[in-house]
Amino acid sequence: MTESITRPGAVGTSHVRLEGLEKVTGAAKYAADVPIDGLAHGWLVLSTIARGRITSLDTESVLAMPGVLGVVHHGNAPRLNPDAGIFGVGDGTLQLLQDDRVPHVGRPVALVVAKSIEQARAGAEALVVTYAEEPHDVEFSASHPDAYSPASAPESGKGDVDAELAVAPVVVDQRYSTPEEHHTAMEPHAAMARWEDGRLEVVDANQGSYLVSQVLASLFRFEPGVVRVRAEHVGGGFGSKALGPQLILAVMAATLFDRPVRVTLSRRQVFSVTGMRPATSQRIRLGADSTGRLRAIDHETASHTSTIHEYIERNGEVTNALYAADAIRVRTSVVKVDLPTPTWMRAPGCAPGSFAVESAMDELAEATGVDPVELRLRNEPQVGPVSGFPFSSRNLVACLKEGARRFGWADRDPRPGVRREGRWLTGTGMAVGIYGAGALPSTAAITASPDGVFTVAIGAADIGTGARTALALVAADALEVSPSAVRMKIADSDLGQAWFAGGSRGTASWSWAVIAAATDLREKLVGVHEIPAEGITGRADTAAAIGALAKQDRYSHGAQFVEVAVDPSTGEVRVRRMLGIFAAGRIINPLTTRSQLVGGMTMGLSMALHEEGLRDKEFGGLVNGDLAGYHVASHADVPDIEADWVEDHDPSVPGGAKGVGEVGIVGTAAAVANAVWHATGVRQRSLPIRLDRVMV
Ligand code: MOS
Repeated sequence: MTESITRPGAVGTSHVRLEGLEKVTGAAKYAADVPIDGLAHGWLVLSTIARGRITSLDTESVLAMPGVLGVVHHGNAPRLNPDAGIFGVGDGTLQLLQDDRVPHVGRPVALVVAKSIEQARAGAEALVVTYAEEPHDVEFSASHPDAYSPASAPESGKGDVDAELAVAPVVVDQRYSTPEEHHTAMEPHAAMARWEDGRLEVVDANQGSYLVSQVLASLFRFEPGVVRVRAEHVGGGFGSKALGPQLILAVMAATLFDRPVRVTLSRRQVFSVTGMRPATSQRIRLGADSTGRLRAIDHETASHTSTIHEYIERNGEVTNALYAADAIRVRTSVVKVDLPTPTWMRAPGCAPGSFAVESAMDELAEATGVDPVELRLRNEPQVGPVSGFPFSSRNLVACLKEGARRFGWADRDPRPGVRREGRWLTGTGMAVGIYGAGALPSTAAITASPDGVFTVAIGAADIGTGARTALALVAADALEVSPSAVRMKIADSDLGQAWFAGGSRGTASWSWAVIAAATDLREKLVGVHEIPAEGITGRADTAAAIGALAKQDRYSHGAQFVEVAVDPSTGEVRVRRMLGIFAAGRIINPLTTRSQLVGGMTMGLSMALHEEGLRDKEFGGLVNGDLAGYHVASHADVPDIEADWVEDHDPSVPGGAKGVGEVGIVGTAAAVANAVWHATGVRQRSLPIRLDRVMV
């Protein structure tokens, strides 16, 4: 597209968040903070058995407790639409308090509502629930007898993988595993619901108020326009903040007791009821020529889902897009176990998938004697390896070369286990990553006011990424005004349909709608000398333009380089430095982009070394479901972490943006594991790289 910007652009220059001052002074109100008149509080009661039925709930004694207003349970809860779910797929996870079945530990079985949050919690803790237990199975493995291939994840690929593997002179054949991982966003989930003048008003912590309003309306069978959902400030999501149990139960209670009700989750409840990344088990077979040129990539991946909804961790997405092999095959299977339903977690599929594929690539580098960076360069595709479509833009080679140059990769001695500094063995490793890009349909409106202010209204979500600020910069350039003339209204379902803050597609999707609304407004302003008091509004809906796009492979790309020090006698792994170089489309706000990428890389480091949800198979619950037991990387774990980017621009998207939220975690764990191998000579094929897996 032709850029028509004549003034110095705001896009591409660093800006602090518009709401930054409010946030750091505590003035910004999150869902649990918004003051509401006459507010009652709900506290969840979670199942303590892994499978069975509720035989009784002793509500009488709880109702007699101070401040308790009521107990919602399967005997009195409103009936829900069983076909409701995101993207129109019925999701049993949402069917709360509909019957006496218990599908896993940590399933909401009641909500105690009281005048204060302390009274609600006391009531919830006092509620005696009796169960009839049934035998359960919480043990996932790829060889589980109930593993099956889901219809929605059919085998994909191209060429004859078995034939290529049979003749390839070099074959790597390994299994990799990743554990259950939890989102642990800084802001625990909370939602308030109240009926007012025939409308259901919701203040929620979510990644897309329009999406949540639609699914909520479908779930409760509300008429269109009844529900209004807002989520002004959100403290992280990572995939866990869609339509959550806190909101469903708040709506039930507000409806039954006819007053505003807020449900706030404790940290431990967040671990139980907001989904997780499922454990995965993956077999990778790479067949290559002696020069490292790939003939075949075979990726078998298995993960677990629940008995109430089929969630699939799509680990093969990276495999279908990374390398120009002659033959590629991805086979996906899932196992239904008596665990909570997994969900999207930052770079779903690509994060665990890249651990397997990029670890195997390092093993191929070792087997062929080809340098790991050179191995990637030799297998760089010209078109989508499976799709055959052109790339919208692909600058992975530039990431590899710039990353290698800045990291000092050229001097690397490839031999493992030969560098010692006192008690430390040191090593370096690298890996690449991709994450899907492109735009999805959104609407937007921009109103010009007589006072010279332009108000952008779009159902976008800012979950801490800086989306609000980025869109103000995009609008300023599209309108050819200063960013100080732009006001943002976001995170309100009444603003109309917009893509949610997910799939790293938010900024690209919303930017397009904002640019199109600005174009419409500027046309309407031609010849206007005085703007009326009500203003003049330009509008856009990008659905038709996006539907007409040519088929292309659209991805953000990145290359990551890691240096570690390992103490083989204690198993301690220290990441000394990490460098990520990305090609992620046009960078709108360098300040917040860097934060997104560093955040993704930190989460990848955390995935590599720390994060592991541990289940007790006897009772089926997490034994480390809090931030004392579930380790997340902290500042002390990342002394030197740098993210930067090379020139990139997606010409298929007005504005040229891709996404930066998820690509930062893709490949990171493999880069760390590859560095640990280089330090010690021992491969780490199971995450996390725990002390006991390193000690030799
Ligand atoms: Mo992301 S897992 O699409 O919030």
